[in-house]
Amino acid sequence: MAILKIARMGHPVLLRRADPVADPGAPEIRRLVADMIETMEDAPGVGLAAPQVFCSLRLFVFRVPGDRSGVDPDDSPMGNTVLINPVLEPIGEEKVLGWEGCLSIPGMRAAVPRAKRVRYRGVDCDGNVVSGEVSGFHARVVQHEYDHLDGILYTMRMTDFGLFGFNEELNKAAEEAQR
Ligand code: NI
Repeated sequence: MAILKIARMGHPVLLRRADPVADPGAPEIRRLVADMIETMEDAPGVGLAAPQVFCSLRLFVFRVPGDRSGVDPDDSPMGNTVLINPVLEPIGEEKVLGWEGCLSIPGMRAAVPRAKRVRYRGVDCDGNVVSGEVSGFHARVVQHEYDHLDGILYTMRMTDFGLFGFNEELNKAAEEAQR
């Protein structure tokens, strides 16, 4: 296993539509998934898409830590999960604004509108179907990672650039506000 180099915003690999994975069980795909999980945990992050490690393929890994999932039962915690050749669709029209960061835009975060609920479906390396109908943080992570497969970064989804900043400054401001 290895920790992979992560592409940063500005690199063209992050802007192209990734190609489908021909054989999810191929040894090189299994190795890539294992390395991506290791890289995500090391960062640390809650999601990582193949284009972020310079592989323009339709797969991503993610996790939903217990302390990030919400009160909604569909916003459930989840261990390390891989989704290969995923499809994703919003359920309903409702959008919610929430903070997100991206390993390709280090040190920053922004409030980004996302569908409140989504349905997704993909396969893992053994060809098992991985699917869910989820909401909240879980839905946000999946939408963010899925966007990477279409060459879309969260900055391209933002509606209020006033809600965009460096983590250090935003954390400082939040602490000040609490005093
Ligand atoms: Ni990202």
